[in-house]
Amino acid sequence: MNAGIKVFAPATVANVAVGFDILGFALEKPGDEIIARFSDTPGLKITKITGAEGKLPLDVHKNTAGVAALKLLEYLGEEQRGIEMEIHKKMPFGSGLGSSAASAAGAVMAVNELLRRPLDKRALLPFAVLGEQVADGAYHADNVAPSLIGGMILIRSNETLDVHRLPVPAGIHATVVYPHVEILTKDARDVLSNTVSLKQCIHQTGNMAGLVVGLYQSDLELIGRSLNDVIIEPQRALLIPHFHEVKERALKAGALGCSISGAGPSIFALSANSRVAEEVGQAMKRVFDRAGIRNDLFISPINQEGAVKL
Ligand code: HSE
Repeated sequence: MNAGIKVFAPATVANVAVGFDILGFALEKPGDEIIARFSDTPGLKITKITGAEGKLPLDVHKNTAGVAALKLLEYLGEEQRGIEMEIHKKMPFGSGLGSSAASAAGAVMAVNELLRRPLDKRALLPFAVLGEQVADGAYHADNVAPSLIGGMILIRSNETLDVHRLPVPAGIHATVVYPHVEILTKDARDVLSNTVSLKQCIHQTGNMAGLVVGLYQSDLELIGRSLNDVIIEPQRALLIPHFHEVKERALKAGALGCSISGAGPSIFALSANSRVAEEVGQAMKRVFDRAGIRNDLFISPINQEGAVKL
Protein backbone atom coordinates (compact mmCIF):
# COMPACT_ATOMS: atom_id res chain seq x y z
CA MET A 1 0.00 0.00 0.00
CA ASN A 2 1.46 3.39 -1.02
CA ALA A 3 1.68 6.08 1.66
CA GLY A 4 -0.27 8.65 -0.35
CA ILE A 5 -0.74 12.32 0.45
CA LYS A 6 -1.64 13.67 3.87
CA VAL A 7 -3.26 17.10 4.24
CA PHE A 8 -4.17 19.16 7.30
CA ALA A 9 -7.16 21.51 7.00
CA PRO A 10 -7.85 23.89 9.89
CA ALA A 11 -10.91 24.76 11.92
CA THR A 12 -12.52 28.11 11.17
CA VAL A 13 -14.68 30.77 12.77
CA ALA A 14 -17.48 31.78 10.40
CA ASN A 15 -19.63 34.94 10.50
CA VAL A 16 -17.15 36.82 12.76
CA ALA A 17 -20.14 38.50 14.45
CA VAL A 18 -21.23 40.83 11.64
CA GLY A 19 -20.66 38.84 8.44
CA PHE A 20 -23.30 36.10 8.43
CA ASP A 21 -22.36 33.69 5.62
CA ILE A 22 -19.84 36.19 4.17
CA LEU A 23 -16.93 36.34 6.61
CA GLY A 24 -14.67 33.78 8.26
CA PHE A 25 -11.14 33.17 9.51
CA ALA A 26 -8.91 30.14 10.02
CA LEU A 27 -7.34 28.92 13.27
CA GLU A 28 -3.94 27.24 13.58
CA LYS A 29 -5.56 24.30 15.32
CA PRO A 30 -7.58 22.13 15.70
CA GLY A 31 -8.24 20.69 12.24
CA ASP A 32 -8.78 17.52 10.22
CA GLU A 33 -6.32 15.27 8.42
CA ILE A 34 -7.19 13.71 5.10
CA ILE A 35 -5.11 11.02 3.42
CA ALA A 36 -5.54 10.20 -0.28
CA ARG A 37 -3.77 7.41 -2.15
CA PHE A 38 -4.15 5.57 -5.44
CA SER A 39 -5.77 2.16 -5.46
CA ASP A 40 -6.28 -0.56 -8.09
CA THR A 41 -10.08 -0.43 -7.81
CA PRO A 42 -11.64 2.24 -10.05
CA GLY A 43 -13.56 5.09 -8.43
CA LEU A 44 -13.32 7.06 -5.19
CA LYS A 45 -13.75 5.26 -1.88
CA ILE A 46 -13.61 6.37 1.74
CA THR A 47 -11.89 3.50 3.50
CA LYS A 48 -11.55 4.86 7.01
CA ILE A 49 -12.95 7.58 9.28
CA THR A 50 -11.51 8.09 12.74
CA GLY A 51 -12.53 10.50 15.50
CA ALA A 52 -16.21 10.62 14.55
CA GLU A 53 -17.65 7.85 16.76
CA GLY A 54 -19.39 6.24 13.79
CA LYS A 55 -21.42 9.41 13.10
CA LEU A 56 -20.13 10.11 9.59
CA PRO A 57 -21.02 8.04 6.50
CA LEU A 58 -18.41 6.14 4.49
CA ASP A 59 -20.65 6.54 1.40
CA VAL A 60 -18.81 9.10 -0.76
CA HIS A 61 -22.11 10.58 -1.96
CA LYS A 62 -23.24 11.39 1.58
CA ASN A 63 -19.95 12.53 3.06
CA THR A 64 -18.79 16.18 2.74
CA ALA A 65 -15.22 15.13 1.98
CA GLY A 66 -16.44 12.46 -0.45
CA VAL A 67 -18.73 14.79 -2.40
CA ALA A 68 -16.07 17.53 -2.55
CA ALA A 69 -13.46 15.12 -3.91
CA LEU A 70 -15.96 13.56 -6.31
CA LYS A 71 -16.96 16.95 -7.77
CA LEU A 72 -13.29 17.76 -8.34
CA LEU A 73 -12.62 14.38 -9.97
CA GLU A 74 -15.66 14.81 -12.24
CA TYR A 75 -14.44 18.25 -13.30
CA LEU A 76 -11.03 16.81 -14.11
CA GLY A 77 -12.57 13.84 -15.97
CA GLU A 78 -10.86 11.52 -13.46
CA GLU A 79 -13.89 9.97 -11.75
CA GLN A 80 -12.83 6.46 -12.79
CA ARG A 81 -9.40 6.89 -11.19
CA GLY A 82 -8.95 4.48 -8.28
CA ILE A 83 -8.50 6.63 -5.15
CA GLU A 84 -8.87 5.77 -1.48
CA MET A 85 -9.43 8.44 1.11
CA GLU A 86 -9.08 8.36 4.90
CA ILE A 87 -10.65 11.04 7.09
CA HIS A 88 -9.16 11.64 10.50
CA LYS A 89 -11.40 14.01 12.45
CA LYS A 90 -9.25 15.85 14.93
CA MET A 91 -11.87 18.38 15.88
CA PRO A 92 -15.42 18.14 17.22
CA PHE A 93 -18.35 18.36 14.83
CA GLY A 94 -21.57 20.21 15.52
CA SER A 95 -19.29 22.62 17.36
CA GLY A 96 -19.37 25.75 15.19
CA LEU A 97 -15.74 25.30 14.21
CA GLY A 98 -16.35 24.37 10.58
CA SER A 99 -15.72 20.66 10.96
CA SER A 100 -17.47 19.60 7.76
CA ALA A 101 -15.80 22.45 5.86
CA ALA A 102 -12.35 21.36 7.03
CA SER A 103 -12.98 17.83 5.77
CA ALA A 104 -14.20 19.14 2.41
CA ALA A 105 -11.26 21.54 2.05
CA GLY A 106 -8.79 18.83 3.09
CA ALA A 107 -10.30 16.34 0.64
CA VAL A 108 -10.01 18.54 -2.46
CA MET A 109 -6.51 19.58 -1.48
CA ALA A 110 -5.39 15.95 -0.91
CA VAL A 111 -6.86 14.68 -4.18
CA ASN A 112 -5.44 17.62 -6.12
CA GLU A 113 -1.99 16.97 -4.65
CA LEU A 114 -2.27 13.26 -5.42
CA LEU A 115 -3.00 14.10 -9.05
CA ARG A 116 0.09 16.35 -9.09
CA ARG A 117 -1.76 19.62 -8.63
CA PRO A 118 -3.77 20.15 -11.84
CA LEU A 119 -5.50 23.15 -10.21
CA ASP A 120 -4.19 25.88 -7.97
CA LYS A 121 -5.55 26.03 -4.43
CA ARG A 122 -8.03 28.84 -5.02
CA ALA A 123 -9.56 27.02 -7.98
CA LEU A 124 -10.46 24.13 -5.63
CA LEU A 125 -12.92 26.30 -3.71
CA PRO A 126 -16.14 25.59 -5.69
CA PHE A 127 -15.70 21.82 -5.25
CA ALA A 128 -15.10 22.13 -1.51
CA VAL A 129 -18.18 24.34 -1.13
CA LEU A 130 -20.31 21.77 -2.98
CA GLY A 131 -19.04 19.15 -0.56
CA GLU A 132 -19.79 21.21 2.52
CA GLN A 133 -23.29 21.83 1.23
CA VAL A 134 -24.05 18.19 2.09
CA ALA A 135 -23.82 19.13 5.79
CA ASP A 136 -26.48 21.83 5.99
CA GLY A 137 -28.02 22.13 2.51
CA ALA A 138 -26.87 25.74 2.07
CA TYR A 139 -24.19 27.02 -0.30
CA HIS A 140 -21.88 29.30 1.64
CA ALA A 141 -18.10 29.52 1.73
CA ASP A 142 -17.48 31.29 5.04
CA ASN A 143 -15.92 28.18 6.60
CA VAL A 144 -14.58 26.43 3.50
CA ALA A 145 -12.72 29.41 2.01
CA PRO A 146 -10.62 30.24 5.11
CA SER A 147 -10.00 26.54 5.81
CA LEU A 148 -8.69 26.06 2.27
CA ILE A 149 -6.74 29.28 1.65
CA GLY A 150 -6.30 30.63 5.19
CA GLY A 151 -6.69 34.15 6.52
CA MET A 152 -9.65 36.41 7.23
CA ILE A 153 -11.82 35.99 4.17
CA LEU A 154 -14.65 38.16 2.91
CA ILE A 155 -17.06 36.48 0.49
CA ARG A 156 -18.66 39.30 -1.50
CA SER A 157 -20.82 36.74 -3.28
CA ASN A 158 -21.39 33.10 -2.40
CA GLU A 159 -23.02 32.56 -5.82
CA THR A 160 -19.92 33.53 -7.80
CA LEU A 161 -17.44 32.78 -4.99
CA ASP A 162 -16.03 36.28 -5.21
CA VAL A 163 -13.68 35.90 -2.21
CA HIS A 164 -11.18 38.43 -0.83
CA ARG A 165 -8.49 38.22 1.82
CA LEU A 166 -8.65 40.98 4.45
CA PRO A 167 -5.57 42.14 6.32
CA VAL A 168 -5.32 41.24 10.01
CA PRO A 169 -3.41 43.60 12.33
CA ALA A 170 -0.25 42.08 13.82
CA GLY A 171 -0.75 40.41 17.18
CA ILE A 172 -4.47 39.73 16.95
CA HIS A 173 -5.34 36.38 18.49
CA ALA A 174 -8.56 34.42 18.57
CA THR A 175 -9.93 32.66 21.62
CA VAL A 176 -12.51 29.93 21.07
CA VAL A 177 -14.33 28.02 23.77
CA TYR A 178 -16.33 24.98 22.75
CA PRO A 179 -18.92 23.89 25.33
CA HIS A 180 -19.86 20.26 24.86
CA VAL A 181 -23.43 20.75 23.73
CA GLU A 182 -24.27 19.74 20.19
CA ILE A 183 -25.98 22.16 17.79
CA LEU A 184 -26.47 21.08 14.19
CA THR A 185 -25.91 23.89 11.70
CA LYS A 186 -29.17 23.02 10.00
CA ASP A 187 -31.08 23.51 13.26
CA ALA A 188 -29.23 26.75 14.01
CA ARG A 189 -30.20 28.02 10.54
CA ASP A 190 -33.83 26.95 10.99
CA VAL A 191 -34.26 29.20 14.06
CA LEU A 192 -33.36 32.30 12.03
CA SER A 193 -36.07 34.68 10.88
CA ASN A 194 -36.13 35.35 7.15
CA THR A 195 -36.78 39.04 7.63
CA VAL A 196 -34.52 41.82 8.86
CA SER A 197 -35.73 45.31 9.71
CA LEU A 198 -34.29 48.35 7.93
CA LYS A 199 -32.93 49.53 11.29
CA GLN A 200 -31.08 46.22 11.83
CA CYS A 201 -29.76 46.33 8.27
CA ILE A 202 -28.36 49.84 8.75
CA HIS A 203 -26.77 48.85 12.06
CA GLN A 204 -25.22 45.66 10.69
CA THR A 205 -23.87 47.14 7.45
CA GLY A 206 -22.32 49.98 9.45
CA ASN A 207 -20.58 47.46 11.70
CA MET A 208 -19.46 45.25 8.81
CA ALA A 209 -17.99 48.24 6.99
CA GLY A 210 -16.43 49.46 10.25
CA LEU A 211 -14.78 46.09 10.78
CA VAL A 212 -13.25 46.12 7.29
CA VAL A 213 -11.93 49.68 7.78
CA GLY A 214 -10.60 48.70 11.22
CA LEU A 215 -8.76 45.70 9.75
CA TYR A 216 -7.23 47.79 6.95
CA GLN A 217 -6.20 50.59 9.28
CA SER A 218 -5.13 48.37 12.21
CA ASP A 219 -7.58 50.33 14.34
CA LEU A 220 -8.28 47.94 17.21
CA GLU A 221 -10.86 50.17 18.84
CA LEU A 222 -12.83 50.42 15.62
CA ILE A 223 -12.61 46.63 15.24
CA GLY A 224 -13.95 46.24 18.78
CA ARG A 225 -16.84 48.70 18.27
CA SER A 226 -17.76 46.95 15.03
CA LEU A 227 -17.87 43.36 16.36
CA ASN A 228 -21.50 43.76 17.33
CA ASP A 229 -24.09 41.51 15.69
CA VAL A 230 -27.67 42.79 15.99
CA ILE A 231 -29.24 40.18 13.67
CA ILE A 232 -28.03 36.62 14.17
CA GLU A 233 -26.54 36.55 17.68
CA PRO A 234 -29.75 37.60 19.48
CA GLN A 235 -31.63 34.75 17.77
CA ARG A 236 -29.02 32.04 18.29
CA ALA A 237 -27.78 33.02 21.75
CA LEU A 238 -30.78 31.18 23.21
CA LEU A 239 -29.36 27.88 21.93
CA ILE A 240 -26.10 28.29 23.87
CA PRO A 241 -26.18 27.92 27.66
CA HIS A 242 -24.61 30.88 29.53
CA PHE A 243 -23.81 32.72 26.29
CA HIS A 244 -24.41 36.22 27.69
CA GLU A 245 -22.32 35.61 30.79
CA VAL A 246 -19.45 34.16 28.73
CA LYS A 247 -19.52 37.19 26.44
CA GLU A 248 -19.62 39.62 29.35
CA ARG A 249 -16.61 37.90 30.98
CA ALA A 250 -14.67 37.96 27.71
CA LEU A 251 -15.21 41.69 27.22
CA LYS A 252 -14.38 42.43 30.87
CA ALA A 253 -11.15 40.45 30.48
CA GLY A 254 -10.14 42.75 27.61
CA ALA A 255 -11.42 41.12 24.40
CA LEU A 256 -12.03 43.47 21.47
CA GLY A 257 -15.24 41.61 20.71
CA CYS A 258 -17.00 38.31 21.32
CA SER A 259 -19.77 36.43 19.54
CA ILE A 260 -20.92 33.00 18.36
CA SER A 261 -18.48 31.01 16.23
CA GLY A 262 -20.36 29.96 13.09
CA ALA A 263 -23.63 28.29 14.03
CA GLY A 264 -22.39 27.65 17.61
CA PRO A 265 -22.20 26.42 20.28
CA SER A 266 -18.55 27.57 20.25
CA ILE A 267 -18.01 31.17 21.25
CA PHE A 268 -15.09 33.19 19.90
CA ALA A 269 -13.36 36.39 20.98
CA LEU A 270 -10.70 38.49 19.28
CA SER A 271 -7.97 40.12 21.36
CA ALA A 272 -5.07 42.44 20.68
CA ASN A 273 -2.40 39.87 21.61
CA SER A 274 -1.85 36.34 22.87
CA ARG A 275 -1.57 37.33 26.53
CA VAL A 276 -5.00 38.99 26.55
CA ALA A 277 -6.41 36.13 24.45
CA GLU A 278 -5.23 33.70 27.14
CA GLU A 279 -6.81 35.73 29.98
CA VAL A 280 -10.01 36.05 27.98
CA GLY A 281 -10.02 32.29 27.42
CA GLN A 282 -9.66 31.53 31.11
CA ALA A 283 -12.49 33.96 31.95
CA MET A 284 -14.78 32.39 29.34
CA LYS A 285 -13.88 28.84 30.33
CA ARG A 286 -14.54 29.53 34.02
CA VAL A 287 -18.23 30.19 33.28
CA PHE A 288 -18.68 26.74 31.73
CA ASP A 289 -16.50 25.07 34.37
CA ARG A 290 -18.64 26.53 37.16
CA ALA A 291 -21.79 25.38 35.38
CA GLY A 292 -20.37 21.86 35.10
CA ILE A 293 -20.31 21.98 31.28
CA ARG A 294 -17.31 20.24 29.76
CA ASN A 295 -15.49 22.53 27.36
CA ASP A 296 -12.36 22.95 25.25
CA LEU A 297 -10.34 26.12 24.90
CA PHE A 298 -8.35 27.06 21.78
CA ILE A 299 -6.12 30.08 21.41
CA SER A 300 -4.65 30.88 18.05
CA PRO A 301 -3.37 33.62 15.78
CA ILE A 302 -5.20 33.92 12.46
CA ASN A 303 -3.87 31.09 10.28
CA GLN A 304 -2.82 32.58 6.94
CA GLU A 305 -1.93 29.27 5.24
CA GLY A 306 -5.17 27.27 5.36
CA ALA A 307 -4.93 23.65 4.21
CA VAL A 308 -1.38 22.33 3.95
CA LYS A 309 0.26 19.13 2.75
CA LEU A 310 1.97 17.43 5.70
N1 HSE B 1 -22.56 31.00 8.21
C1 HSE B 1 -22.95 29.70 8.65
C2 HSE B 1 -24.02 29.83 9.71
C3 HSE B 1 -21.74 29.01 9.22
O1 HSE B 1 -23.84 30.63 10.63
O2 HSE B 1 -25.04 29.14 9.63
C4 HSE B 1 -22.01 27.63 9.71
O3 HSE B 1 -22.00 26.72 8.66
